[in-house]
Amino acid sequence: MTRVVAELERLGLAEFLADFPGDSVDRRQWAAGARGLDGELRALAGFLLLGEPAAADRLPPALAGALPALVESGVAHRSGGEVRLLDVSLFRSAGVWLFAEPPSPFPVRHYFGRDSVALARRTGFRAGARVLDLCSGPGFQGLVAARGGARATLVELLPETAEVARLNAEINGVADRIEVLVGDLYEPLPAGARPYDHVIANIPFLPTLAAPGEEAAHDGGEDGFGVGRRVLAGLPRHLAADGTAHLTALLLQADERLVTDGELRAWAAENGYGLTVTLTERMAVDADSDLVQTTVSDHLETDPQADPEELTTAAVAMYASRGATAARLAYLRIDAGMADFRVLDRTGG
Ligand SMILES: C[S@@+](CC[C@H](N)C(=O)[O-])C[C@H]1O[C@@H](n2cnc3c(N)ncnc32)[C@H](O)[C@@H]1O
Repeated sequence: MTRVVAELERLGLAEFLADFPGDSVDRRQWAAGARGLDGELRALAGFLLLGEPAAADRLPPALAGALPALVESGVAHRSGGEVRLLDVSLFRSAGVWLFAEPPSPFPVRHYFGRDSVALARRTGFRAGARVLDLCSGPGFQGLVAARGGARATLVELLPETAEVARLNAEINGVADRIEVLVGDLYEPLPAGARPYDHVIANIPFLPTLAAPGEEAAHDGGEDGFGVGRRVLAGLPRHLAADGTAHLTALLLQADERLVTDGELRAWAAENGYGLTVTLTERMAVDADSDLVQTTVSDHLETDPQADPEELTTAAVAMYASRGATAARLAYLRIDAGMADFRVLDRTGG
């Protein structure tokens, strides 16, 4: 399967993708760039990046040979002599090739986004390190680790997404250093699993409006940090004494104060952890904001009968009840054995 990426690189696809600024995950930029291509590379970009159908017998040999595996993993569909990718594109970032879904206003199954890239940039792994990638999606964080010589255990809730992570491990030639488990956070780990040198978790962090007690394993809960809290709660058992952990989070702010400041500070002190919270993008939390409207449309996906206006009112009320004036996309770095807490504001407050 590694012959596939060698072939794509030889045919120029890595060169094409390398030209987009900031590890672009934007299909529109690819479409614009692809206008300047022709021949085999144009056909390849159309099939692998832009969702266009391709004639199976015209594909380059290694890619044609990998088609049964792509179909088996659910990323491609073959009908007669024609084949096309299902929802996914083939991304390349940090040297990793990744079948994943381009960002969309609608919920996606095989996630890859700017936050994935930003989180990976914060990590670093030595060869042989043991890495736990929670909420692995199609596997980007674990693949970055394995590519650097680490051994990674990936945990993903959706079986079909775990299957795509396994395919991604194969095409990157690191399947021997990756295991993919299906389940809820730490739950599928074998009893007595040795603590990990690194725990990485790009969690789902949108608030959810389910009635209390009805949350699903992927629900961020009312303030969006529900999964994050459960990841933090498991670290003392699963992170090695000199380990590091990295999480994404959406944290609420009341004017310039973090609503969870006291909670995070107390958790770090209690467990003897150094916790650095880096605040990036600021998001509005009023009724018309993208955040509230995405929260509402996410809820409507599972509960189409709900009244959008009532949901909007509930979301706004949730923020108001916490005094929140904004939400911040945040990256948490945790260093075991350091007892410290600091907040870095990368947008100047
Ligand atoms: C934001 S995506 C992150 C994907 C990937 N780690 C990355 O950085 O690009 C979150 C993923 O976590 C999965 N997930 C949600 N709740 C989970 C849980 N409780 N346990 C394991 N995986 C979960 C979702 O299905 C989704 O694939």
